[in-house]
Amino acid sequence: MGGKCDIGLIGLAVMGQNLALNIESAGYQVAVYNRTTTTTEEFIKKRASNKNINPAYSLEEFVSLLQVPRKIILMVKAGAPVDYVIEGLLPYLEEGDIIIDGGNSYYRDTERRVRGLKERGIRFLGTGISGGEYGALHGPSIMPGGDESAYREVEEIFSKIAARAEDGPCVSYLGEGSAGHYVKMVHNGIEYGVMELIAESYDLMRKTLGLSPAEMGGIFREWNEEQQSYLLEITGEIMDREDQETGKPLIDLISDVANQKGTGKWTAQEALDLGVPVPVITAAVNARYLSSYKEERGEFSRLFPAPERKTADRDFLVALEEALYLATVTAYAEGMDLLKRASSEYGYNLPLAEVARIWQDGCIIRSNLLKQIQRIYKEAGETASIILSDEFSSDFAGKIENLRRVVSLAAVEGIPVPAFSAALAYFDSLSARDLPANLIQAQRDYFGAHTYQRKDKEGTFHTDWQDIKNV
Ligand code: 6PG
Repeated sequence: MGGKCDIGLIGLAVMGQNLALNIESAGYQVAVYNRTTTTTEEFIKKRASNKNINPAYSLEEFVSLLQVPRKIILMVKAGAPVDYVIEGLLPYLEEGDIIIDGGNSYYRDTERRVRGLKERGIRFLGTGISGGEYGALHGPSIMPGGDESAYREVEEIFSKIAARAEDGPCVSYLGEGSAGHYVKMVHNGIEYGVMELIAESYDLMRKTLGLSPAEMGGIFREWNEEQQSYLLEITGEIMDREDQETGKPLIDLISDVANQKGTGKWTAQEALDLGVPVPVITAAVNARYLSSYKEERGEFSRLFPAPERKTADRDFLVALEEALYLATVTAYAEGMDLLKRASSEYGYNLPLAEVARIWQDGCIIRSNLLKQIQRIYKEAGETASIILSDEFSSDFAGKIENLRRVVSLAAVEGIPVPAFSAALAYFDSLSARDLPANLIQAQRDYFGAHTYQRKDKEGTFHTDWQDIKNV
């Protein structure tokens, strides 16, 4: 140890600790600070002992340990704590110093911080980091946005600590302002969608085929041979886990109320604001809210018991695997469409092929699908929808009957499949030459004189539906 530190990290919860250890093991000297002193002491005594990691016990001391321009990663809770730490740091920073927010911050907060700090000469990078605690330690997917000159100064460190996909480290500069946190938000929206689809598949398997968790574990593993999806992989492992106390499958003992911290909801809200339909993602957010209606669900299920269920044929599993595949592609398609719209709306100029590349390893939504998505954007540029591409269109044409079979069986058996249903309705709406929106237009014109367009001639029209003037 000696000299000043290459980089500093504030916030020593597990993610922060793991990221500091990852950076140190890549050959850098790291300064660390945590508001609660005992956490820092403990970290230095245990996990960081004999490592090139230097503790600080005040922000002033922390800043004094860093090489100039200072590079400071914040791994603190999104929201007010980020502003609080920034305000605490500012008196000690100099023009050109760099602050990197590695949390799941709301992109509008990031936008405000980028601008506010620029006025004070501080360079800010809103940086999505995905991969959970394991990824932080062994190689996350890193999604930086904000001041490009600042990115170039941390690029070497980020490239060394990121996960590595076939085409290089899972990190790339994504654009100005809040681009990095926006991409991370959409990553999480897709994450919600895929998690819900897998959960619905599990529910269908246990309720229509009566499979045990261990049997389902085997099936998820088999399905994952081709998809290589992290979320499918961990689902297989979850199915196998026994509770140490009771010896029962642990999954059977876990309460069926799903929590959330907000990133999926933000994705759905943002999509509504920009007018981009993301029904699978939105269904996944609503499914979590519905799960939290535990008391109401008790009352409803007493009054409206589930229909008597028949056991499905075993070949239903083939349909389910293909339905899950198509609906999963739909969740990615929705997310990519939202990114495309946001890119032009907010001037991010997002490199979509790069986004697909840096999601190929380290992050929660990593899967073989991302290789195909990267190819689509690399070769065809901005396609209308990835579903229309050569990579996926024949799959949809050939397998959509299986998605129909899954949704209809679920409807008959009274099993909620909101994300599967949303994927099918999305596909059917996009594939419909005629939608009933002509009637919506007529209704709007009837009660509000909102006017409509006609199929047979140009112009804007209004009909006096109620013959009001003659009443
Ligand atoms: C990741 C995860 C991570 C976090 C989610 C959980 O990419 O590593 O997305 O950021 O686990 O935010 O989100 P919910 O608590 O909302 O499910």
